[in-house]
Amino acid sequence: MASVRIFDTPAVLARALAGHIGRALAAQPALVLGLATGRTPIPLYRELVRRHADGRADFSRATTFNLDEFLGVSADDPRSYRAFMKKHFFDHVNLTPRRIHFLNGAVRPGRDVQRECDRYERAIERAGGIDVQILGLGMNGHIGFNEPARALVARTHATRLKPATRRANAPLFGNRVGAVPREALSMGMATILHAKRIVLLATGSTKARCVERMLAGPVTPRLPASFLQLHRHVEIWLDRAAESNLEV
Ligand code: F6R
Repeated sequence: MASVRIFDTPAVLARALAGHIGRALAAQPALVLGLATGRTPIPLYRELVRRHADGRADFSRATTFNLDEFLGVSADDPRSYRAFMKKHFFDHVNLTPRRIHFLNGAVRPGRDVQRECDRYERAIERAGGIDVQILGLGMNGHIGFNEPARALVARTHATRLKPATRRANAPLFGNRVGAVPREALSMGMATILHAKRIVLLATGSTKARCVERMLAGPVTPRLPASFLQLHRHVEIWLDRAAESNLEV
């Protein structure tokens, strides 16, 4: 059973979670963090940067793995998820560059894609696995880019983005949905479920229905986030707007 924590506002949630991560880092400086992009974790990154500036979060020995990246978009492209992370987080904390891990969206189509996915899985394994995986929640129930489907892929893989996901990412591409790549690389469902601890964040009323289905509905690949019900140490951190459909 997932533990659900509810906060008055996204800002309060972000402060609490940043405190949590700061303390986890103090207890375990070589923490391996799984990170998400998107609108939801931006306040968290802001708080972590603030804690770091105040000397309350030291990332020098930490390792990070991001969940996903667009295919056909290189790391230095300002529209990449890597650039998003640089802007909101990496450029403002003392992570060691070689311990920042990202899927390479610029990989050549074909066999190199599988090689890149295998490389990522091995890197996660070599790091000893992910200690704390931060997740956002897609409006259609995706986590990472594990989109609703008849069946899910266990490990890191290339995936086709749903039209709704491309629309949600249009702001990164000058609000032109047509410019959003059709494919991406993503950790798979098993990659995510192997994290020792998972913290999923959802804020805003647009996520309320999906949160309810994720927690109270059946475990189904039609709502990939429902697979989190299978994990022993998953926490769902919500603001009041996102929990409004739950009976808690
Ligand atoms: C991005 C990711 C996605 C987002 C999800 C929610 O790295 O993994 O699953 O977490 O699309 O996005 P926002 O937070 O923008 O609603």
